[in-house]
Amino acid sequence: KRRIGILTGGGDCPGLNAVIRGVVKSAIIRRGWEVVGIEDGFDGLLKTDRTRLLGLGDVRGILPRGGTILGTSNRGNPFCYPVENNGKTILTDISDQVVDSIRKMGIDALVAVGGDGSLKIALELMRKGVPIVGVPKTIDNDLMETDVTFGYNTALETATDALDKLHSTAESHHRVMIMEVMGRYAGWIALESGISGGADVILIPEIPFDIQSVCRAIDERCRRGNTFSIVVAAEGAYPRGGGRVVRREASEANPVERLGGIGEYVARELTSCLKMDTRSMVLGHLQRGGSPSTFDRCLGSRFGVGAVELIDKERYGEMVCLRGRDIRSVSIEKAVRRLKLVNPRGQMVYAAEELGIAVGRR
Ligand code: F6P
Repeated sequence: KRRIGILTGGGDCPGLNAVIRGVVKSAIIRRGWEVVGIEDGFDGLLKTDRTRLLGLGDVRGILPRGGTILGTSNRGNPFCYPVENNGKTILTDISDQVVDSIRKMGIDALVAVGGDGSLKIALELMRKGVPIVGVPKTIDNDLMETDVTFGYNTALETATDALDKLHSTAESHHRVMIMEVMGRYAGWIALESGISGGADVILIPEIPFDIQSVCRAIDERCRRGNTFSIVVAAEGAYPRGGGRVVRREASEANPVERLGGIGEYVARELTSCLKMDTRSMVLGHLQRGGSPSTFDRCLGSRFGVGAVELIDKERYGEMVCLRGRDIRSVSIEKAVRRLKLVNPRGQMVYAAEELGIAVGRR
């Protein structure tokens, strides 16, 4: 009887529970295997009391639930783990300990559900002899080698819904409303929700923007008789020549940091150049929460089933992915080589511009 482990690492994402349920069901019902759930990502591999056997009862009713029943963590990279030593925190490679504890738990293969960071850790553990398969997860949709990641669709729905709501208040008050969405390196959420939610300006990290052009675009709208405008900015968007202004990475010298982020920065600049009432809001972690959409439930479930199939065929080091409408697999190594970014000359940006949306540069 085989015993497989499953963990969810990195930021949470709608659809994680669908993956867990898919793995548990196809492993237990179809194959009679055992499934060990590991709590809080790779962190949970360090102690056996943070693992538990998952039965069919544990996954009953979890399909519509957001988050992950296993918990997750951004910490716990076993290759640079914070270890306390004489009051100092030293980043230490404790991967041998992790490999050892996986063996002691009798886990003969592991399903790692994660984004770029977690899959890189999975790859390193794989190189140390742990049989691992991957499942791509991120609301940012910035993982290569899969058409889409689960969680992205739900995040888009949330962002589009928020834009619909912003429209009515922007219109009533004749304001410019700026909505900051997630996307540290990739502008997928901003671009697609911006198109779907009827934004007038979209700012993404892949196209550094010129604030004067943004002012001009809104000013032209006013001249055409529009009394309000909607701007969507990915958190990683930045002004041309100004360097990245991601909130947490910014320093004292970074003026945007003091203002709290790109949304506020744009609001301040627009207020001074347009003399229009301007407000900004950060959609934040709402994008990661909530019940997964139909699309994400189905994709997550299919990914879970696909991961068990990969283990069954002993295709370790591979990650399930979506190609067209089919679930396929690809080497994790290939998937984590670089991030999937928006092509500034691609179809999606073209469509936005044809719709009259200013995507930063004009
Ligand atoms: O999943 C990636 C992401 O959504 C980024 O877009 C965002 O910067 C980040 O998560 C925020 O995560 P946390 O607040 O958990 O560090």
